[in-house]
Amino acid sequence: MNPMSICSSSSSSSSSSSSSSSTAKAWIVHSILAGTAIAVAIGARAYLGGAKKFRSRVVGIIPARFASSRFQGKPLVQILGKPMIQRTWERSKLATTLDHIVVATDDEKIAECCRGFGADVIMTSESCQNGTERCNEALGKLEKKYDIVVNIQGDEPLIEPEIIDGVVKALQAAPDAVFSTAVTSLKPEDAFDPNRVKCVVDNRGYAIYFSRGLIPFNKSANVNPHFPYLLHLGIQSYDSEFLKIYPKLQPTPLQLEEDLEQLKVLENGYKMKVIKVDHEAHGIDTPEDVEKIESLMCERNLS
Ligand SMILES: *[C@@H]1O[C@H](CO)[C@@H](O)[C@H](O)[C@H]1NC(C)=O
Ligand SMILES: *[C@@H]1O[C@H](CO)[C@@H](O)[C@H](O)[C@H]1NC(C)=O
Repeated sequence: MNPMSICSSSSSSSSSSSSSSSTAKAWIVHSILAGTAIAVAIGARAYLGGAKKFRSRVVGIIPARFASSRFQGKPLVQILGKPMIQRTWERSKLATTLDHIVVATDDEKIAECCRGFGADVIMTSESCQNGTERCNEALGKLEKKYDIVVNIQGDEPLIEPEIIDGVVKALQAAPDAVFSTAVTSLKPEDAFDPNRVKCVVDNRGYAIYFSRGLIPFNKSANVNPHFPYLLHLGIQSYDSEFLKIYPKLQPTPLQLEEDLEQLKVLENGYKMKVIKVDHEAHGIDTPEDVEKIESLMCERNLS
């Protein structure tokens, strides 16, 4: 199907989006500079004993499973005439910090499709409970060694390569962190939506806490229109040594109560670096989301 023919039938209101990407860069650059200052301040302090050398080798892994309770075969859904997984992969290819990109899947149809557009594929077992586990299994099957693994969510076809590079550089610049992730501004209407995860950071950009509730909480019990609340985005990168122990860490009380995996990292005393980016989350969770993202891409002339 020709993408443009799909577009021409949809709304013609063209809102400009070009400004958002330059803001994204500004935020990222700011955070990287802050990160560098910290790296210098702490020196090469190690987190797993011994002096740690610069983590230079980076692999991007796109975990993709066929079975999904809400959306069967999601990675293969067509978005303006291209499979979603291909769109995510093409965006990831534009990131400059990745030495290698692979799709990790348990499904032969997905593997075949990915090989078809030129992606490297690693088969992982169906028993992987989540993307992190799938990344870990894929990491173990790769021929080369990597220092950093970026977990690129397959259901974010509009992920900006600058965000991928941003989380990688943030982790590289913070030798005492084992994990890095990204946040963006929280929209006031999402303040009390438990599916939108909020985050608070310290003044050096390390995560303090994540919650499904609104944090910080204003004593008026309302959203403070002047406070810069942060929304957590799905992308994350890990130190590859840490990724091996992450799935084995026992569940922790706050993690279980909030049902937020990343809290296990903080509760065990590890450090997590957070970058702020300008990004509108367009995750695909349901078939209805596909229509929404297609009309948005048409509006913005993205194809
Ligand atoms: C709470 O929010 C209001 C605006 O709604 C703001 O003026 C105030 O400074 C915030 N903090 C406290 C402690 O009230
Ligand atoms: C993934 O699942 C494993 C096994 O159930 C669990 O130990 C781990 O904490 C989970 N990790 C994430 C990120 O959900």
